[in-house]
Amino acid sequence: ATESTLILIKPDGVRRGLIGEVVRRIERKGLTIDKMELRTLERETAEEHYGEHRERPFFGELVDFITGGPLVALVVTGESAIAAMRQLAGATNPLESAPGSIRGEFATEIGENIIHGSDSPESAEREIKIFFP
Ligand code: CMP
Repeated sequence: ATESTLILIKPDGVRRGLIGEVVRRIERKGLTIDKMELRTLERETAEEHYGEHRERPFFGELVDFITGGPLVALVVTGESAIAAMRQLAGATNPLESAPGSIRGEFATEIGENIIHGSDSPESAEREIKIFFP
């Protein structure tokens, strides 16, 4: 089925000049970019987006990182877009992501892993509303 997913090119990806690289992979996969915006998140928005991680020991660090510079937020749409984007991104821990995936090629640290993608239709709906109300 056709789905939409919320993708972030995180501040480390923007800082390292990887916007084009990530966008190229999304387009090459055959997915459609519906919305795309460069912006720096307010803490409040970041805390809402990462609400499910509020009790984790790394929560403060995660919010500092994601608000620490501009990021690119995208809505990506297409057949099985959620799973397709998770395949392109690779596993959360860059040391476990497939070598050809975005995290597998460009990251080494779990906290600075270049890209975020919604993990289910429910989180996609929730996250798209936060970034593009
Ligand atoms: P993301 O898919 O954006 O969703 C939650 C994020 O928390 C995840 O990517 C990681 O970047 C981050 N994360 C997960 N585990 C850790 C950890 N142990 N230390 C720091 N960040 C983490």
